[in-house]
Amino acid sequence: MPDSDGIPSYKTDNVVVLVQNDFAACETILRNNADEIACLIMELQSCAGGIVELEKEFVRKIRALTEELGILLIFDETITLRAAYGGLQSVYQIKPDMTVLGKMIGGGLPIGAVGGSRKVFRVLEDNQVMLSGTHHGHPLACAAGSACLEAMDADAYVRLNAMAEKIKTELNSWAREFKYPFIVFGSFSVFGYAFTKELGQSITTHRDYWNKIDEDSMNIYALEMATRGYFPVHRGQIGLTLPMTDEDVGGYIETTKDIIRLIYSEE
Ligand SMILES: Cc1ncc(COP(=O)(O)O)c(C=O)c1O
Repeated sequence: MPDSDGIPSYKTDNVVVLVQNDFAACETILRNNADEIACLIMELQSCAGGIVELEKEFVRKIRALTEELGILLIFDETITLRAAYGGLQSVYQIKPDMTVLGKMIGGGLPIGAVGGSRKVFRVLEDNQVMLSGTHHGHPLACAAGSACLEAMDADAYVRLNAMAEKIKTELNSWAREFKYPFIVFGSFSVFGYAFTKELGQSITTHRDYWNKIDEDSMNIYALEMATRGYFPVHRGQIGLTLPMTDEDVGGYIETTKDIIRLIYSEE
């Protein structure tokens, strides 16, 4: 679904979109198109397009089916790498055929990386696929990336995820207690929030965003937070970083409560 005026048809003609967390629908689509599908690419928790966590059982079944059908499984861990020392795939304990990385591995400079099984990467050795680019392996980006990954030791992930967990549990129990249709969800330091149209709704697919979200409240919240010094992404995303303190986390929680009270007091 385009966020802009559209996507060229030569692109959409070559892509089949699957439904997150609905294995039966995915299986039908994949089996019906298996001869034409080269690869399946997924984020274990989608981020830029709205936070949706894939259920472990769903991913496990997709892994087995892609193996059976000879479809390459690619995990896009561009953002989810920050979930754990070995990326979100280490938490799920599911191995893809290829992994795509970016963002964090450049320590603030532009870089991308792709990894995979020896069998897959044979195509480069055999020159079946050509991979080259002006900035590939740029020394400055590689140095910044190495420094960032050294700073991200095992403790750093634990601290970041604990901060996220605190925001999530405190705000969810507060919103439940006062019956506000506001939820916080996701499993690591990039996680989601939503104002839903009705109390008790959850977000398990990208389509839920289009059907269940109260867009006005989403926009007011993001704008009001930004004017108070906090910067969640208006589409329902919070990202935490290592320099943040417990005080920042506490401030985020209390400021969120203030704004939610404000939103619902004006109705
Ligand atoms: C999950 C994910 N994959 C891929 C990309 C694209 O990365 P790049 O801008 O380096 O092409 C992004 C960018 O935001 C992303 O969030």
